[in-house]
Amino acid sequence: PRLDTLLNLDEIEAAATKQVSKKCWAYYFSAADDLYSKTLNNLAYRNILLRPRVFVDVTRADTSTTLLGHRVSTPLYVSPAAMARLAHPDGEAGIARGISRFGAMQLVSHNASMTPEQIVADAAPGQIFGWQLYVQTNRAKSEAMLARIAKMPEHYKCVVLTLDAPVPSKREHDERAGIEARLLIESSKPPAAEEKGKNNSNNKPDSNSGVGQQLFFGTAADLTWETTLPWLAKHTSLPIVLKGIQTHEDAYLAAQYARRHPGTIRAVILSNHGGRSLDTAPPAVHTLLEIRKYCPEVFDTIEVWVDGGVRRGTDVVKALCLGAKAVGVGRAALWGLGAGGWKGVERTFEILQGEILTCMKMMGAKDISELGPRFINTRMVERD
Ligand code: FNR
Repeated sequence: PRLDTLLNLDEIEAAATKQVSKKCWAYYFSAADDLYSKTLNNLAYRNILLRPRVFVDVTRADTSTTLLGHRVSTPLYVSPAAMARLAHPDGEAGIARGISRFGAMQLVSHNASMTPEQIVADAAPGQIFGWQLYVQTNRAKSEAMLARIAKMPEHYKCVVLTLDAPVPSKREHDERAGIEARLLIESSKPPAAEEKGKNNSNNKPDSNSGVGQQLFFGTAADLTWETTLPWLAKHTSLPIVLKGIQTHEDAYLAAQYARRHPGTIRAVILSNHGGRSLDTAPPAVHTLLEIRKYCPEVFDTIEVWVDGGVRRGTDVVKALCLGAKAVGVGRAALWGLGAGGWKGVERTFEILQGEILTCMKMMGAKDISELGPRFINTRMVERD
């Protein structure tokens, strides 16, 4: 279909579903167990209501903000998601190209299907990226990747440490569709062209499981506050973002660590991994509400980003009103790629960005900094 006939993210997902391989669809679509968290991620937004104010001049509205001190034109960012080339040869570089006109940040997966150098090679001036790390049991491998990322300071502005997947999860759609024979993880291939074709150190062994389990091979399960953060701070000078925080207790610990160790943790991402790790883990919105209730000072100490279940501009605005500084989309970017390569990603961002602006104007908010709890009614999600 022509991309401009696709009017919302569901239609883009439907178009991509028709175009990508069965295996690709199963890997992207899948989530843990019964997909309850995946479903709830989006439902949670449906159950939060907006409180629009009238008689405000909204001829213009501005969605720009700062993330870790860097100016971005939109609070919307791309969450790290593995294997973009399963959907389209444009891959992660295509995602970068698709979002370039929106001035958004892109987080690059540890299991990307292109190297971190290739992904940023044609990046627009000022486009910022982060690199996501799954700490490997062989720490030397992780250290080598961190050293590579450090060589591209104009592009990579943070290291995102994912914590919500210490063991592989049970994703039945993915398992049923089997493994991908030609696994496209290229992220840790050597950067230099002359080394092309050398053995990919990140190639995982075959097994009777899905792509998720195939990718998991080599990931460490022994991470702790005490040991991992000092190790990481020794091997990167970039701001650290902890991804997969799911309780106010852990958000509080992250903020406390940040206060005690300046220059380490600068943000947390409230996420249940798009429902892909632990089924019935809470959607980010619930964790945001917990933090507001029990330890609101976290919002003043570190940036709080969220992801999971975003399908409408109103979802993004609601998260911002509840204290999030940025909002990520995982599958939406991949489905965009599947629907039409980099242009499909561009269309996805065009739709979402348009919806964010419409929502802000309808509510009488001209600026991201104006968004706050006064625009939100949470009665349906906080019944106690
Ligand atoms: C992911 N996600 C993910 N997260 C991460 O930290 N490292 C990774 O390699 C991946 N890989 C990955 C692959 C696929 C196919 C999906 C769908 C997701 C999780 C991702 O960053 C994010 O948390 C969720 O995708 C957000 O939920 P939505 O937007 O997909 O609903």
